[in-house]
This record gives sequence, C-alpha cells and structure tokens, in this order.
Amino acid sequence: MAKVGETSPAVISAHGLKRHFPITKGLVLRRQVGSVRAVDGLDFTIAPSQSFTIVGESGCGKTTTARLVLKLDRPSEGDILFDGRSIAAAGPSETRGYRHAVQAVFQDPYSSLNPRMKVTQLVSESLRAAGASATDLKQRVTEAIEAVGLPPEAASRYPHMFSGGQRQRIAIARAIVSRPRLIVLDEPVSALDVSIRAQILNLLRDLQSRYGIAYLMISHDLATVRFISDVVAVMYLGVFVETGPAETVFTRPRHPYTQSLIAAASIDQRPIAVDADDPGEPPSAAALPIGCRFHPRCLRASTICKTDEPPLRPLDGVHVACHHPLEVA
Ligand SMILES: Nc1ncnc2c1ncn2[C@@H]1O[C@H](COP(=O)(O)OP(=O)(O)OP(=O)(O)O)[C@@H](O)[C@H]1O
Ligand SMILES: [Mg+2]
Repeated sequence: MAKVGETSPAVISAHGLKRHFPITKGLVLRRQVGSVRAVDGLDFTIAPSQSFTIVGESGCGKTTTARLVLKLDRPSEGDILFDGRSIAAAGPSETRGYRHAVQAVFQDPYSSLNPRMKVTQLVSESLRAAGASATDLKQRVTEAIEAVGLPPEAASRYPHMFSGGQRQRIAIARAIVSRPRLIVLDEPVSALDVSIRAQILNLLRDLQSRYGIAYLMISHDLATVRFISDVVAVMYLGVFVETGPAETVFTRPRHPYTQSLIAAASIDQRPIAVDADDPGEPPSAAALPIGCRFHPRCLRASTICKTDEPPLRPLDGVHVACHHPLEVA
C-alpha cells in the first residue's frame, strides 16, 4: 500500500497497523462474538520536523492510533518502527529511551496535569526519570517554561492557578523538555476557547521550527489545524481514505468524505457528494459495511462501491481510496 509522507529518513513509520478490540458475550465464559476494527490497516511515515495530521470524526480510530504510537497499547497486527527499529521488539531500556524521545500532549489540560505538583515538578518529571543532574534539570526546565511563553514565576505555581490555554502551555513544556523527536498531539486545542486556539497552534509551529520536532497531530477539524500540517491523512472507520499535502487536500479534496468534512467546518459551503439533509451516522467499527466503508453515506456510490473496498491509490499528487473520486476544476 502507498506510504504517506514518505521522505527519508523517517522518525517513525507504521506498517499494516491494526488494532481490533474483541466484543465478548457472557459474564463467565466471555465468548468472542465480533470485533471493533478501530484501526484497520494503516501505513504512514513521519519525517523529522514534519507535521503529520490525522483528521476524522469521532470514533474513526484516531486516539487508538495515538496510543499505539505511544506504546500504550499493542497492535493486533502490523508494526511501528522508530529509527527503523520495531518498538514492539524493544526491551525495557530501549523502551525507556523511546518514551523519552516520543512525548504526548492530550486534549484536556485539566485532567492531564497532576494538581498536586508544581509546574517545575510537572515539567521536570521525564528528566528526573532519565536521571538528569540538578543543574541540567533546572536549566532545561527554565528554558522550556520560557519557550512556551510562560513567565519564570510560573515554575513555583500549581496547575489550578492557570487558565486552560496556559495549562496547555505547561503540558507542551512538559513534552518539549526532554527534547523529543516526536510529539503526539491528540486534539491539543479542541478543549480551548476559539480565541486561544490560534495562539497555541502558533506556539506549536514555532517550537517545531526551533527544535525540529516531528508532530503526529490528531484533530476532528481539518480547518483548525490546516496551517500547521504538512501532510494530512483523512481517516474513516479505521482506514485512511485520502492522504497528501495539507494544502492540496484542503483546497482540492478528492474523496467525498474529505469534502464533507471541509464543508461541515465552513458556513457557506454545503457538501455535494454527501447527502447534506441526511448525512447519517457513521456505521459502527463493530459492523463495517461491505465494499467501501463510506458508501452508505455517499451520494456518488455505485454498485462497485457496495461490493469492493477501494484501495488507497495515487491521484494527482495525493492518494485516494475511492471508486469515483471528485474531479478538480
Ligand atoms: N479499549 C477499547 N475497547 C473496545 N473498543 C474500543 C476501545 N478503545 C476504543 N474503542 C473503539 O474503537 C473505535 C475508535 O475509538 P477512538 O477512541 O480511537 O476514536 P477517536 O477517533 O479518537 O474518536 P474521538 O474523536 O471521539 O476521540 C470506537 O468505536 C471506540 O468505541
Ligand atoms: Mg480520540
């Protein structure tokens, strides 16, 4: 299958990545009666300093993918390579190194920061775990706090003394302090006021160019994260349906689902390839439709869409999994 964002050398790459959750019945015998195919065969590559964004609606498998990359969960099939080495095969010491090099920022800055720890402790946690000296630790924490735009006195305060946007800055300081190669950002601005979102995204972009960090960004809203994304992968029920340079995908969507996502985020455009009056609920990842996963919601669907699942194929600089991709003017 086509690899997305393929420029070498990769920081991280996923190969045939799947995560299926068993559905069981019965309290005692727990018979497996099916599975939720949350992640159902992803291939991607993220290069140094690159922002790779996965976009898709609720339940399509974004957080499951993030958890696999963070090694918080194991794939059912497939593998993730970091610097060309399988993270599944890594021993305890290599895994510690991996956890240092790959950091995360989550959606909710309220629950992701321990309220009993001062900012300086929160930010220095990963360095302490790695055995950094007291001098090094102090210097790096001061630098991280400054880099995210917080005043030096923030170091001795507790998270509850900050606003949502400032707390997200603390979470970002925590992530950058270990000089990671990759940060997984799972909906980093969704919980924030609209007025604060641009500030945090600008900060993330500045930090990326300052430190050369790669991002795996996750968002349900392509419009919001467009300007800090290099490559976008549009995800639908566990698979990528369109991938390519963010600007191209946003301005010339080829998959009807991508088009509907963009239209839904804009006030004066209506989706044309999707029934706007009855867009329907996405089918469940526990009972996927036969053929194209998107066909029950797609106005372009024909007979083949109901029988054959389209693979991700190259098309004019992007990759699209659709039997009837949208034409461009
Ligand atoms: N531990 C689990 N056990 C069973 N099913 C799960 C588990 N974790 C996730 N799922 C299911 O996998 C699918 C994908 O979930 P996931 O959280 O990855 O979606 P998401 O794209 O992050 O959604 P959201 O935008 O709402 O955060 C959903 O159908 C979800 O119910
Ligand atoms: Mg999620």
